[in-house]
Amino acid sequence: MSFPPARQSLLAALSVAALAIGPARAQEAPEQIVNAMNKLWGSHAGFRANHAKGVVVEGSFTGAKQAASLSKAPLFTGAAIPITVRFSDATGIPTLPDGEANANPHGMAIKFHMPDASEFDMVTNSLKTFPVATAEDFRDLLIAISVSGPGSAKPTKLEQFVAAHPSVPRASGTLATPSSFARETYNGVNAFVFVNAAGTRQPFRFRIDPVAGTDHLTPADAARQAPDFLMSELPARLGREPVVFRLMAQLANPGDPTKDATIAWPADRKLVEIGTITLTKAVADSADAQKKLLFLPTNLPTGIEPSDDPLIDARTQAYAISFTRRSQ
Ligand code: HEM
Repeated sequence: MSFPPARQSLLAALSVAALAIGPARAQEAPEQIVNAMNKLWGSHAGFRANHAKGVVVEGSFTGAKQAASLSKAPLFTGAAIPITVRFSDATGIPTLPDGEANANPHGMAIKFHMPDASEFDMVTNSLKTFPVATAEDFRDLLIAISVSGPGSAKPTKLEQFVAAHPSVPRASGTLATPSSFARETYNGVNAFVFVNAAGTRQPFRFRIDPVAGTDHLTPADAARQAPDFLMSELPARLGREPVVFRLMAQLANPGDPTKDATIAWPADRKLVEIGTITLTKAVADSADAQKKLLFLPTNLPTGIEPSDDPLIDARTQAYAISFTRRSQ
């Protein structure tokens, strides 16, 4: 499959990344984050700095026509749009057992192959909120983890960081291992902005709900699973039946903060179903497919824009740096 428009956005992202890693200036936070991930989890040739272990499947997205009143994105015509989806375990360790606590949060990244041959990427995970609000804090958290191993002097750097950032335990507190990638809820976490044909702007967050329902294992049950149980269960399930998710958008009220991914909006905010994701088959060679895939949170269609959340740009820069390293 060829992805010309993605290559364009990739080139744009890589030139941003190249600017960020030019020889004459200090490293920026996105590069420091990728360095910290490589230090924490090791550098594994050909694998992502984070979410290294994954499985690639295919299907389609059908947008809800009523969502066209929120966004002029060419997603909501009612026509089916082909999608490529990568589910993943957290960390940069490609051999991590799927049932380990560190494999949380699990990821779901979607590439929409739009009718005009452009692409749109949606990169979600099972965190409801992010542990920190800025790239600099994320860098410092990763560094604190890497210097706080067993035997470190108390209070460790991590304990000190967590004491100063209650958003860290708040984010990780709700994580659990799903019984299947098809039984997890995935969150966009960062706020984006719908823009409709009249130019009306509506901040929102994506959420992806499994039609089969969310189902989590106890830590003891998770630890008993085979090392690749999530990676192998999904293709087996798709051999029997399609896997269906509802794509939801939580709409912000005026004044809800859009630039702080550590803060969930109140549960009473309007939740709109904006489409259906139907997965139908695993790709023939997932290991090869995932090497070529790059999902960028800023790769958006007209009608969906980034909010003022600083993590969004930092993510695109870090993903491009990781892609450059894993492609070498
Ligand atoms: C500043 C914040 C963040 C940074 C610096 C960061 C960094 C990274 C990096 C370097 C990768 C590897 C990319 C690649 O090689 O293609 C990655 C992958 C990923 N990240 Fe993040 N991340 C951040 C926040 C988030 C958030 C908020 C989410 C979910 C809402 C998320 C979900 C994912 C997923 C699902 C993948 C795997 C994508 C794939 O399947 O290719 N990340 N992240």
